Amino acid sequence: MPSPSRVVLFALSLLLALTVAACRSVTHDDGPTWAIAIHGGAGTLDRAAPSSAQAEYRASLSKALELGRERLRRGDSALDVVEAVVRVFEDDPLFNAGKGAVFNEQGAHELDASIMEGHTLACGAVAGVRTVKNPISLARLVMEKTRHVLLMGDGAEQFATLTGVERVENSYFDTEYRRKVLEEVLRERQLKGAALGAAQAAPSDVRHGYGTVGCVVRDQKGNLAAATSTGGLTGKRWGRVGDTPVIGAGNYADAFVAVSGTGTGEQFIRHTVARSIGARVQFGGQTLQQAADAVVHGSLQPDDGGIIAVDRHGNLVATYNSTGMYRGLADSSGLFDVRIFDN
Ligand code: GLY
Repeated sequence: MPSPSRVVLFALSLLLALTVAACRSVTHDDGPTWAIAIHGGAGTLDRAAPSSAQAEYRASLSKALELGRERLRRGDSALDVVEAVVRVFEDDPLFNAGKGAVFNEQGAHELDASIMEGHTLACGAVAGVRTVKNPISLARLVMEKTRHVLLMGDGAEQFATLTGVERVENSYFDTEYRRKVLEEVLRERQLKGAALGAAQAAPSDVRHGYGTVGCVVRDQKGNLAAATSTGGLTGKRWGRVGDTPVIGAGNYADAFVAVSGTGTGEQFIRHTVARSIGARVQFGGQTLQQAADAVVHGSLQPDDGGIIAVDRHGNLVATYNSTGMYRGLADSSGLFDVRIFDN
């Protein structure tokens, strides 16, 4: 027979355990059940651009964000949502991914994309594909149908044939605007004698040269995912691969964070931007905002670009060191915000 003092001690311990559990669940329930961030690149219009041009971008961003919001409301998985949202961007000629992708120095398009699921660390990527209408979906197939993470060039094209994903002529990705930017970049490069390619690009190359699209999500089950897709840099060397298909550089998701980047890929690779943000949260005890600010404003150089991120609690971050970043944030608490510049 237990003594009365032991019974009291047991009851008190039970009460304490129940209180701690209740507090935990209150904290969890107080946060959003789902959250999503999107970006359409850090290479934006000038601030002085006509309001009609800005409105066009805002409308496209809203359309992508609305799709993500509806899918999350109805309980779709983070992985399905990031893929679906990035496909919307890939089909929109305003953005540097899929239709509307920038030209390389040969006047062709080479596309990169990657996708990652946080709780499984499953990931897939493609680099330098030329005829795949939606590279993000091919990246997902690499993740789900092969034992590899990254397929490139002809191998990725052959895999695309095996899977039956939609194919297009390389010229499908052409837009007049991107062609003009290429001509401008090549002319400036010639004038400045910078004949060694994108790595030697003049500052104005950077202004017009980059852009990428991405989406990060925390779904109703608390799972995270990230997807990113790009045409890379205007006037890049043939065969150049940036950060977008490099897991941990331009795209990353685990059980703590999901991050998607946009900017000068070489810099994002050097600083393993996406994984560094995650590591600061996971091991350094930083909030998502602190981690993102430290990497974007501390490790990267001004005008390198920016990131969007979400953590496992549904906190959303969009941070950049460029003039602006096409972006949008939404969550289950009613947030729905689309922006290009600081305000
Ligand atoms: N961030 C896109 C690229 O550098 O390719």
